[in-house]
Amino acid sequence: MHIEINRGSGRPLPLQISDTLSQRISSGLLQPGEQLPSVRKMAEMLEVCQVTVSKAYADLERRGWLIRRQGLGCFAAAPGSGAGPKPLADRQGTTGSHAAGKRGASEEQPAAAVYAGKHATRFASGRTEPEWQKDYEDYLPRAQLWRNFNFSEAEYSFHLAAIDSGMLPLKEIGAAMTSLVAKRPELMSAYGNFQGDPSLREAVRRHLRTRGIVLPPEGLLITSGTQQGIDLVARTFVGPGDTVYLEAPSYTGAIDVFAGRGADMIGVPVDKDGMRVDLLTKLCDRRPPKLIYTVPTFQNPCGATMSLERRQRLLELARSYGCLIVEDDPFSDLYFGSPPPPSIKSLDTEGHVVYMKSFSKVLAPGCRVAGVAAEGDILERLTAAKAASDLGSPLLIQLAVLPFIADRYEAYMKGLRSALKSRMARAAALLKRHAPKGVRWNIPGGGLNFWLELPDYIDTGELYSRAIRQGISFLPGNVCYSGEPPAHHIRICYAQMDEAKMEQGLLKLLLLLAEAAGGFKAGDGAK
Ligand SMILES: Cc1ncc(COP(=O)(O)O)c(C=O)c1O
Repeated sequence: MHIEINRGSGRPLPLQISDTLSQRISSGLLQPGEQLPSVRKMAEMLEVCQVTVSKAYADLERRGWLIRRQGLGCFAAAPGSGAGPKPLADRQGTTGSHAAGKRGASEEQPAAAVYAGKHATRFASGRTEPEWQKDYEDYLPRAQLWRNFNFSEAEYSFHLAAIDSGMLPLKEIGAAMTSLVAKRPELMSAYGNFQGDPSLREAVRRHLRTRGIVLPPEGLLITSGTQQGIDLVARTFVGPGDTVYLEAPSYTGAIDVFAGRGADMIGVPVDKDGMRVDLLTKLCDRRPPKLIYTVPTFQNPCGATMSLERRQRLLELARSYGCLIVEDDPFSDLYFGSPPPPSIKSLDTEGHVVYMKSFSKVLAPGCRVAGVAAEGDILERLTAAKAASDLGSPLLIQLAVLPFIADRYEAYMKGLRSALKSRMARAAALLKRHAPKGVRWNIPGGGLNFWLELPDYIDTGELYSRAIRQGISFLPGNVCYSGEPPAHHIRICYAQMDEAKMEQGLLKLLLLLAEAAGGFKAGDGAK
């Protein structure tokens, strides 16, 4: 296993090591019960002194992620197999993060074990995994997206920021695909253009123009979803020790990607007007940014929308440091009242913003199509990275979504907004009526999620374990932080299931919450 040590970060080395290890365990990359290298071996591997590793192991042990067995060594621990991990808030001077599902769970089958069970038997033949695989070095310090995204077993799914398939134009896109396969089978034999099919790029360019983003014809890259766009930016421009600022909380998939590059992520608090750019400015004085990642509109997970003034100040900041802003924008078309402020990209005249528009999210997630808008050298290097990554997105799929994006997007979006608004209102009504006192949330002005703040005394990890056992999934808020102590939050997406299922599931979840709160006492926690 590779552990990125950043000696210039000012963060104590033992904590860098213990955080990486706890994140690997909470991600399921290191299974509970797996032996950790001895202090001596780990110290050799990381080229640090043994005292540093001893301190790291002691920290892990204190938090419950590690068990020592006399004469045998140190082992990764599961919650409930001894002392449960202790809240990070107990740790002086630390800012680690880990999954809520691991914390404090002490019942028969903690959520972590559900996942561990899913991934523990690696060979269908039943043979145990050979030793060499366990020791094979990898560069994945955390993988919360993998664990929390790809979780399909829940009967009631609130964990994904996704739209119920019944609301998506799957028939139209499917028909376009069938027709293409019948009429132009040669599309399947072609590699196409690395940057994306020119007709799709043109349609996306025209679409973005209606949102105030003016690009030259070549100013776009088609990627396999925004997730790939984030990955391409990170692998092109972010290296070990580079400073990446992002909202705290933020999109867990982006955190995983930047962590994988060894970036030093610094979370910037968010209020109702989005990222606190005033605080960011002060932070940048001390640590100049290499990159700023933001979801300014209906932010994932907390739903805040950055004010126009902050967007302008953020751009100013990027100009003064000569750095990039990644503006990740999957949700701006999903507004329920007045449209959100203009995108940061539409204010950008000097190519500081790499703007990402996910079409996969609102049309057909399985089609994996997004547009990445950038200019000049930045775009060229991203295109080179795209070529190295996959030689271009599948042509057939690009052409299947093209007619919809070119001709029907606006009308569809109008209908989708109204359908989502009424579903969101239904969920808000249930929350208002049944959420126990002390639970707080904002009514989202758009997007797909409610971000619930739970009272301190509710153990999010325990709640998560119970919910999973009852077939209810949600996103534990802890995974949305790059390094800050976890707060008591959970994210629920109101749009992932059909309305009846959403209502049933939400009522069940609220019942669990009420139990965790020590009895039912409804309190309207809408902020
Ligand atoms: C903020 C944000 N960015 C990117 C993604 C990935 O979306 P895509 O399907 O376009 O890869 C998601 C998915 O939930 C998201 O919420």
